[in-house]
Amino acid sequence: MMPAVQADTEETRYGAFLDARLMMRFLGYARPHRRWIALAMLLPPLSALSQVAQPMVIQLAVDRHLVTGNLDGFYGLLAALAALVIFQFISGYFQSMINAMLGQRVISDLRQELFAHLLTLDAAFYAKNPSGSLTNRVANDAEAISQMVSAGLINLFADLLLLIAIAIGMVALSPRLSLVVLVLMPLVILVAFQVTRRMRTIQRQGTLLQARMTARLTEESEGRDVMRLFHQQQTAMARFDQLNRDHRANADKSNFLEALQFSFVEAASTGVVAVLFWYGATLMSEGTLTIGILTAFIDAVRRLFFPIRDLAGKFTTMQSAMSALERVFTLIDTPPAIADPPAASALTPREPPQGAIRFAGVQFGYGAETVLSGIDLTIAPGERIAVVGPTGAGKSTLIKLLNRTCEPQQGVITIDGVPVNRMPLARLRRLAGVARQETVLFSGTIAENIGLFDPAISRARIEWAARETGALDFIQSLPDGLESRLGERGNNLSAGQRQLLGMTRIFALDPPILVLDEATSSVDAVSERLIQAALERLMTGRTAVIIAHRLSTIRHVDRIVVLAKGRIVEIGTHAELLERHGLFATLHALQFQEEKTEPVTTH
Ligand SMILES: Nc1ncnc2c1ncn2[C@@H]1O[C@H](COP(=O)(O)OP(=O)(O)OP(=O)(O)O)[C@@H](O)[C@H]1O
Ligand SMILES: [Mg+2]
Repeated sequence: MMPAVQADTEETRYGAFLDARLMMRFLGYARPHRRWIALAMLLPPLSALSQVAQPMVIQLAVDRHLVTGNLDGFYGLLAALAALVIFQFISGYFQSMINAMLGQRVISDLRQELFAHLLTLDAAFYAKNPSGSLTNRVANDAEAISQMVSAGLINLFADLLLLIAIAIGMVALSPRLSLVVLVLMPLVILVAFQVTRRMRTIQRQGTLLQARMTARLTEESEGRDVMRLFHQQQTAMARFDQLNRDHRANADKSNFLEALQFSFVEAASTGVVAVLFWYGATLMSEGTLTIGILTAFIDAVRRLFFPIRDLAGKFTTMQSAMSALERVFTLIDTPPAIADPPAASALTPREPPQGAIRFAGVQFGYGAETVLSGIDLTIAPGERIAVVGPTGAGKSTLIKLLNRTCEPQQGVITIDGVPVNRMPLARLRRLAGVARQETVLFSGTIAENIGLFDPAISRARIEWAARETGALDFIQSLPDGLESRLGERGNNLSAGQRQLLGMTRIFALDPPILVLDEATSSVDAVSERLIQAALERLMTGRTAVIIAHRLSTIRHVDRIVVLAKGRIVEIGTHAELLERHGLFATLHALQFQEEKTEPVTTH
């Protein structure tokens, strides 16, 4: 089977804060924005220079003017200092702006690619990956990566430059005081790092809990009707409550450490300043240090501590981004199982299409287990075939293979003599129109749901199709007619109405092959009649494959295929199969009995 991103990918927690392989690949996405990056890289050196220049100016002001009382040129120095501060403010502002912009730009490309890729993945992939975790990829992970660009990468670069610049400035001011800092600073950094490490572990757990909460929320909100039906709200609450509590406990720990880290660095910087005062005073009494140099030096030390204070924040940003990158790339690398054939081997069926179908030696399983095997079936153009069989026999799967929602492990399926995996997907979709067991609708207008944004399907055609299936009646009773908006997944329509819309879609597409997977849920008698009538009209002039649960639907088909446990067990006309006294005859007898007592359908 193909490698897939599993539900537990939230748990592939990345330890490192920088991974060269991931970074190199990510830089590929940053390339198109290299002008912005160049601009973003231009500001940190300037800003670092302005930051070192400030203590230098202070030193001059103190030693030349304040100590001596000679104010000649003092105001010039003050103006220079003001100019430096203003420059620092402006460059800081632009730096933040450019960083944020860059982050958004890079990530919007990646998000687009991710979304496009999700559309190419097949049913087997979605069966394995909960939608909550996929939502996390496109929303949270993308955001984490964008944060890395806007708050992590460039700022780390800027901090590094600043540290180097200030270190040079300090040595230039006073090598002996620098020695004090050189001894004390590593101790401070060491402690800060320990706290940071502990914090990263906790924050990683936080991300994991957050992801679990999102997954739970999606799952629960999708199943909310069932939940209510079975009065499961209490257990759902309890499960969520536990997660929520864990999340809070985790956040408390992380906040505690963050406060600790912050206060420690503050206290340490004050401590270092105190030592500098004491040592500075000694040096001054020896006459080897001026008060201006001491003042400037202390100002420089304060600047040195700024980047260290939120080092933890930057590490966390980088680390979250690394795990986000890892997950996003894994997803992007999941190969689409169903893709257009390479241009060289693509074949297009001849025009006009005939609608002949052939399954030859087809075998398929979603996982290790075989769901269909030894399927051989030839359907002539214009023939009407019904597929019946017990629930789980593989009827719906047969259709998924025909329209290449899934790929068979063995055998071939051809339409008009061309294997379905050799024709372009768009072409295949036009050849075989499928109305599924559950009509999939999306939030949008009814017209959009019928035309599916196909430019070849005009408005007039949509209206015509709706009239043909009889759906127009109920559509016109809605406030905005064809422009009425459907709720999420069409939840404001009845099952029968949804199915009529599914059939209208096929009318609008007008394919030579009609495939219908009849809904298992029973619809009321009026809808039933409407659906039957629509079906009759749809089948005219087309090859039809109907999966029927109500055997009454299929009296008039040419042949019936009986499927059981993934194999074709009987093929024949209605009369032939009844005479044979096999599975079909049994199913028929069962349903006949049922229909006498109550109007239920078999599954
Ligand atoms: N997405 C999936 N992932 C894994 N297994 C699946 C998936 N869909 C179906 N199956 C399995 O494949 C088998 C055949 O399923 P299929 O949906 O084709 O049955 P069916 O004949 O259409 O049943 P019904 O009459 O209830 O619609 C079943 O055993 C089912 O559990
Ligand atoms: Mg089915």
